[in-house]
Formats: sequence, structure tokens, C-alpha cells
Amino acid sequence: MGRIADLNARSRRRGLFALLFVGFAGCGAGDTSYLDFDPASVPAQPTWANDVLPRLDYYCGACHSPDAQVGLQEGLDLTNYEVAKFALLDIERTAMIERSMPPGTAQKMSAYDFAVIKRWDKNGHPK
Ligand code: HEC
Repeated sequence: MGRIADLNARSRRRGLFALLFVGFAGCGAGDTSYLDFDPASVPAQPTWANDVLPRLDYYCGACHSPDAQVGLQEGLDLTNYEVAKFALLDIERTAMIERSMPPGTAQKMSAYDFAVIKRWDKNGHPK
């Protein structure tokens, strides 16, 4: 019984997540262009060095890297391979679901860029 209740709770949460995502995508002055991309254009074999690090550095490095001018925020170095691998769910949540990172009016991550990171994750994080 516990198991079924657990499963139900989990799928309810997923539903809520999807709703939240649509909700967030729908705001921001109606600009959802960051969601548009051709899945076929995502590289088949993204690597940390060529595809993932440059993206994390671009969107997050100003505050989450050792050379951040403002100091390393939250001690979270997203330009570090092991840290980034470990933080993938937090990256997805803050950058793509909540859209809270980078904060303020800084350019947010595009769905294409996240799809590249996601495929790298799926492929087992090649360096
Ligand atoms: C302009 C500076 C800045 C940039 C750029 C930035 N962050 Fe942050 N980040 C912060 C600050 C400040 C905090 C701590 C305060 C807070 O949580 O809002 C933080 C906290 C976090 C946290 C921990 C808090 C939480 O909600 O889990 C995560 C995860 C995070 N950032 C991820 C990212 C990712 C991913 C990017 C790039 C897509 C990014 N950040 C870009 C400044 C920044």
C-alpha cells in the first residue's frame, strides 16, 4: 500500500512539475523562443571540454567558477567536471525549471544548450 501511495505521490509531483514548467515558460513576456530548437542539431557525442564546460562557463561561470569576480557563489564551481556532474539536477532545476539562475536579467539558458548537457549526462559524461 505504501508503495502505491508512493508511486501516486511521485506521479502527482511530476504532473505538478510539468505544470510549473508550462507556467514559467508561459511568462517572461510571452517569449518562449528559448524553447525552440531542432533536436537533430544536438551533437550525438557531446564532451565536457567541447560542449558542456563552455556552456556552463557562459551562463554560470561569472558567479560559479574560481575566477568569479563576485567570489564563488555558494561554493558551487560549475566549471569543475565532478561538481557539475553531481549538480546536474540542481542545474536543471535552477536554470530550466525555476529559471532562477542566472539571477536577474542575465541571459538564461536555452533549451538547446540544456539538451546538449542532458545528452552528455545520458552518454555517461565523456570528458
Ligand atoms: C550573477 C551571478 C550568478 C550567475 C551568473 C549564476 N548564479 Fe547561481 N547563484 C548565485 C547566487 C548569488 C546564489 C546564492 C543565492 C541564491 O540562491 O539566490 C546562487 C545559487 C545557486 C544555486 C544554489 C541555490 C539553489 O537554488 O539550489 C544553484 C544550484 C545555482 N546557483 C546554479 C546556477 C546555474 C546552473 C547557473 C547558470 C545557468 C547560475 N547559477 C548562474 C549567483 C549566480
